[in-house]
Amino acid sequence: MLKIIMSQHDSIRAVEWKDNHLVLLDQRKLPHNEQFVQLYSAEDTADAIRNMVVRGAPAIGIAAAYAAAMAARKCYKQYPQDWRKRLSVEIDLLQNSRPTAVNLMWALKRMCDLADAVDGDPEEPLLALAQQIHQDDINANYRMGELGSALIQPSHGVLTHCNTGSLATGGYGTALGVIRSAYSSGKIEHVYADETRPWWQGSRLTAWELVKDKIPAHLLCDGAAAHLMKLGKVSWVIVGSDRIAANGDVANKIGTYSLAVNARYHGVKFMVVAPTSTIDLATSNGNGIPIEERSQDEVLNVSNQRIAAHHTQAWNPAFDVTPAALVDALVTEKGVVLNPNAAKIAALMAS
Ligand code: MRU
Repeated sequence: MLKIIMSQHDSIRAVEWKDNHLVLLDQRKLPHNEQFVQLYSAEDTADAIRNMVVRGAPAIGIAAAYAAAMAARKCYKQYPQDWRKRLSVEIDLLQNSRPTAVNLMWALKRMCDLADAVDGDPEEPLLALAQQIHQDDINANYRMGELGSALIQPSHGVLTHCNTGSLATGGYGTALGVIRSAYSSGKIEHVYADETRPWWQGSRLTAWELVKDKIPAHLLCDGAAAHLMKLGKVSWVIVGSDRIAANGDVANKIGTYSLAVNARYHGVKFMVVAPTSTIDLATSNGNGIPIEERSQDEVLNVSNQRIAAHHTQAWNPAFDVTPAALVDALVTEKGVVLNPNAAKIAALMAS
């Protein structure tokens, strides 16, 4: 049974296992509608990941783990002799749902390794592993919240990008978890959240989480971030990540790289908060990280209303890569790495 610890400023869960299926809070409908989607198959979960019903690197991995458990249950019932072969087709569907967040591949590898090892009916052990992955992520977020908050000197404000909160994870959040902990312990008074074009994770999701948890915040246009830093309103930029290469290069939501460049110029510290499931030792540097390009319609339209002239073309990379040299602190559940590089990351992962 999943253990949910609700601390102060932690009121949201977006991924849940109920009875025999997966329940997702539909992130496309927030903040105005809190609707839940009930999922019973890997195919439907892969669609939900692709279409951003669930998004955020750790949350995608957790949803895929539950989907793999549902797929194993179905395959074993229908094809008790060659269920593993059938399962691998469903795992491929999940694996290909989004390319950048490595937590997806990490969680599915753990589920496949267990499926290869089990003797007999895989239902219970695979579901137990999915629940463990979910619980471990929540625990990692609480730990990273403490570690990241400890780095922050009492200050007025911090700036964050995209959504890295309860909606993007098993619960509590990575970067937003640090912000929650820092606010709870009186380290910060105010949060600035980029709206995060073109999918509006900041406006629609982060602002909603902050309002729900009564943390004072202002939303700003992505283009206002450098001006905010110049005015001295923030001491840290705090972001999450979808994949961190072995040398510490950080893939995260498009716009993160600009923030890191601007932060260095203005003497603002730059913190990346991510569980070790986001670190991909098999990818030596950021050039090897696949960057998802999404439909140009996300840029050309706002709330299904066309805003650019017809025949305008748009380019829509969903992520960018911040070089490790611009990262002041990498916070993981295993510890903090200051000025990350390949040697420090290898030592962290081996610890
Ligand atoms: O396209 P999204 O919304 O899935 O992108 C999410 C991000 O870029 C987050 O910053 C990242 O997953 C870290 S969340 C804990």
